[in-house]
Amino acid sequence: MEYLHVCYTDFMKILKFDTAELASKCLAKEIYQAIRENPSLNIGVATGRTMDSVYHNLHLLHQKERLDCSKVKAFALDEYIGLKKGHENSYGHYLNFHLFEPMGFSPSNTFVPDVHNSNFEEASSLYEEQIQKAGGLDFLIMGIGINGHIALNEPGSASDSRTRIVALSSKTIESNKTLFTGEEEIPNTALTMGIGTMMDAQKTYLIATGVTKSEIIRDLVEGDIRSSLPASYLKDHPNFTLILDHDSSKKIK
Ligand code: GLP
Repeated sequence: MEYLHVCYTDFMKILKFDTAELASKCLAKEIYQAIRENPSLNIGVATGRTMDSVYHNLHLLHQKERLDCSKVKAFALDEYIGLKKGHENSYGHYLNFHLFEPMGFSPSNTFVPDVHNSNFEEASSLYEEQIQKAGGLDFLIMGIGINGHIALNEPGSASDSRTRIVALSSKTIESNKTLFTGEEEIPNTALTMGIGTMMDAQKTYLIATGVTKSEIIRDLVEGDIRSSLPASYLKDHPNFTLILDHDSSKKIK
């Protein structure tokens, strides 16, 4: 696999690839190897357009040489509030379709914040408990929103935040609109893992591809750690890898 550039800063390892496809393949391979090394891996999993190609490439690897994923525990990073159970635009549905079913994850080992429990505080603490009970997250894969959000931790999120209800910013609603088929409005609230929840993971990966992410990636790589750019908290994580393509990395000096 061709790297354009591998670079270590004080804060992270950056892998830059020529194309989005190569960047996706790299992350898919990392996930594949992590499961092969630890069939009981606890993994936090993201949704979004960037992840489509990562999960597709992971599935291709799995088709070549099958992995036993029956003991992997997977935790969705977030879920919209207000959609019916199993709704095609829900993150739970996305993950079932792109990751859990193709890879043969056992349904009893896949977790999504329970947005159908109207007591959101209870649902949030339960999610934290489920992660703890599993032994914590070994591996975490993320995308990034154009405003720097990770999972749905919008700008202003605290570094020690845990799973909770959040209001989506207008930028996030606008940018995620294209993922909504059908007539309904995109929900404006969600349950999301917190920054603290994500920072507790042993190994963290963030993938960003495409020119629309180039400004936020420049700000992430070159700027300070700050609550106005939630992904920047990852620079404090002891094992953080940023995977980029040519387009998303083009504004970095
Ligand atoms: C959503 C998800 C995030 C994801 C972001 C970017 O808001 N909750 O986890 O990182 O979208 O998505 P995309 O890859 O479609 O740009």
